[in-house]
Amino acid sequence: MFERLEPVVPDPILGLMAAFRADPDARKVDLGIGVYRDEHGDTPVLGAVQQAESALFERQTTKSYVGPAGNAGFNQAMERLVLGAAHPALTAGRVRSVQAPGGCGALRLGAELIRAACPDAVVHVSTPTWANHTPLLAGSGLKLERYPYFDAATGGVQFHAMTAALERLPARAVVLLHASCHNPTGADLSQAQWRELLSLVKRRQLLPFIDMAYQGLGEGLDADAFGLRLLCAELPEVLFAVSCSKNFGLYRERTGSLHLVGESPAAADAALSQMVRLARGIWSMPPDHGAAIVHGILGDESLRSQWMEELASMRRRIQGLRHEVVQRLKAYCPQRDFDFIATQRGMFSFFGISSAQVRALRERHHVYMTEDSRMNVAGLRQENLEYFARAVAQVLAA
Ligand code: LMR
Repeated sequence: MFERLEPVVPDPILGLMAAFRADPDARKVDLGIGVYRDEHGDTPVLGAVQQAESALFERQTTKSYVGPAGNAGFNQAMERLVLGAAHPALTAGRVRSVQAPGGCGALRLGAELIRAACPDAVVHVSTPTWANHTPLLAGSGLKLERYPYFDAATGGVQFHAMTAALERLPARAVVLLHASCHNPTGADLSQAQWRELLSLVKRRQLLPFIDMAYQGLGEGLDADAFGLRLLCAELPEVLFAVSCSKNFGLYRERTGSLHLVGESPAAADAALSQMVRLARGIWSMPPDHGAAIVHGILGDESLRSQWMEELASMRRRIQGLRHEVVQRLKAYCPQRDFDFIATQRGMFSFFGISSAQVRALRERHHVYMTEDSRMNVAGLRQENLEYFARAVAQVLAA
């Protein structure tokens, strides 16, 4: 049977990760996979995570199953973290949550839920969107279409084109939105644009499906949730997938959650029973470890403040690097405007060079970014900023 399978081209992000690891050159710069790196190029375990993990090892008495919806304390803590403790959808009892294996598991489960409710639903994703959105969402059998989003001329959002496209969608169309730190472009909606989007989504009766993978890495925990909180407060139904990979640094622990705001508590209960049924049929029960750590951090005042401080320092480092790399690029490539990098948010920026130039950066200078020129700003450091800017200048001049 399997001899008929054709080998596939590796996933663009994972393929790059493997190529970077295999490159023996000491000057190599990893701006590929979206993993936070510190000034030494490391991705250390956060201090709050280490402490919560030690406490967990001390008190854990069993490895028996938790259940298909996961850790109830974690689910509740995530609802409060993302929505804010006094959010009207929470006080109205309209939010239901399940733990999932990472943000990816949550996205896939959300797609399966949409398909169960409406097999013909079409999910509209931004142009561009995270490379893995396509297999994750379309793998459920749902059809995917695209709406305009990134404006290459300004490095911002083509909001007019985006809303014009969304205005034409039929009721019940699903719109995948990035809560903040848009992956791959770093271009986010402003608060005024979120408000405008809300009235459009309401008028056209669209269903927002929000991917929240970087809360706290853009402007802050509250600011990064502004649009999500607004939509969840004002709309009858919203679905959102949350990842703890980046903001808790729990990448390999596969920690995330799927949340649904239902029209009424009864409708939300019915949807929850479907989410649990679907999860049971895919992974049965989610992994416990990462969620238990997050629960431990969010439920302890001192660990929570420590985590918030660690998160703020990651955010400040990325914001600082954005400004510094613009200065270096100004010095080495004065003919080109890279100011947009400083105005974008989160780990990524779309660098705006051709795929041939991306290849030249990789092959001649050992600088790795994805073929579409997405760069992970957190991969830069004081010691490679200049090397990077010089390499870019040489490639642009070639
Ligand atoms: C990325 O976009 O690089 C990260 O979200 C990691 C991944 O799984 O693709």
